[in-house]
Amino acid sequence: MAQWQTGIVQDDSSHHIFLEFAVRGAPTALPGRALAMASVPDGAQVLAFGAGLSRSLAEVPAPEGIADFTAIEGAEGLSAPATQRDLFIWLQGERRDELFARALAWRDALIEVADLATEEHGFRFRDSRDLTGFVDGSANPKGDAKAAAACIGEGRQAGGSYVLAQRWVHNLAAFHALPISDQERVIGRTKAESIELTGDAMLPNSHVSRTDIKRGGQAVKIYRRSAPVGGVRDAGLYFLAFSADLNRFRWLLESMYGLRDPNFRDRLLSYSKPVSGSFFYAPPADAMLAAFKN
Ligand code: HEM
Repeated sequence: MAQWQTGIVQDDSSHHIFLEFAVRGAPTALPGRALAMASVPDGAQVLAFGAGLSRSLAEVPAPEGIADFTAIEGAEGLSAPATQRDLFIWLQGERRDELFARALAWRDALIEVADLATEEHGFRFRDSRDLTGFVDGSANPKGDAKAAAACIGEGRQAGGSYVLAQRWVHNLAAFHALPISDQERVIGRTKAESIELTGDAMLPNSHVSRTDIKRGGQAVKIYRRSAPVGGVRDAGLYFLAFSADLNRFRWLLESMYGLRDPNFRDRLLSYSKPVSGSFFYAPPADAMLAAFKN
């Protein structure tokens, strides 16, 4: 199988920079080949393209399944906006200075063709917790199951991966005002040890109940690489996930937003809301490089 971009499945990093660019026109290739090829000191980069750019790039086989993110209008007036961008660059690693230098270099390399539309700086919070205080990633696939969930297994796109990127803003004051036992019912896991609730304690509107779902008898698996972002005033999560099938993101979001069962929408949506949303396609490593000219 063609090799996926290895940053997708590497171990969690201390620092992240998430860059989303709006690309002008429909380029057949992008500048920045040297940067696309250069490794990030003590880190990694992952590059992905929106539907329009995937189709215009001459050397990247356009995946059939890629589409723009469309806004979600869910139960109780809850919604998720679409802010589809064209190019996604995710820098992760142990050296914030090196990530920053790489982000600047990318901005300069792309300046003739693309505007930086979104920039988020993420960080590992304690033992890989979301800013709500709950461990994020406990039920993520492990070992070989990571790439099996994240990357297309066979065919022309083997090694490619679909991406969902959404910036969420938390209402931490409201969430932390709940007793811990209630916070745990919102998530569906215990706070200190991240043990999944069982029996009557696991409510159907918990986040885990809404996202641990099956479709046609198969578990809907994605690989999540989200990170806390923002400051005290706009603390939240850059939700980032990879999947072998774009539809899995839609099914999960529909389940969270009460579009599969209007009686049960995700209670987490009372405490956090997305303010951006894009789908991207991360081609296998060799096809990603082929998108860049000198
Ligand atoms: C503010 C936004 C979000 C926060 C704070 C959040 C946090 C969490 C936490 C704390 C867990 C339990 C621990 C774990 O298994 O990682 C979890 C599980 C999960 N989340 Fe989220 N999440 C968010 C949004 C989303 C979105 C948008 C999706 C899908 C599109 C999603 C999909 C999942 C999945 C698949 C699981 C694992 C369920 C299982 O099999 O047990 N999450 N999330």
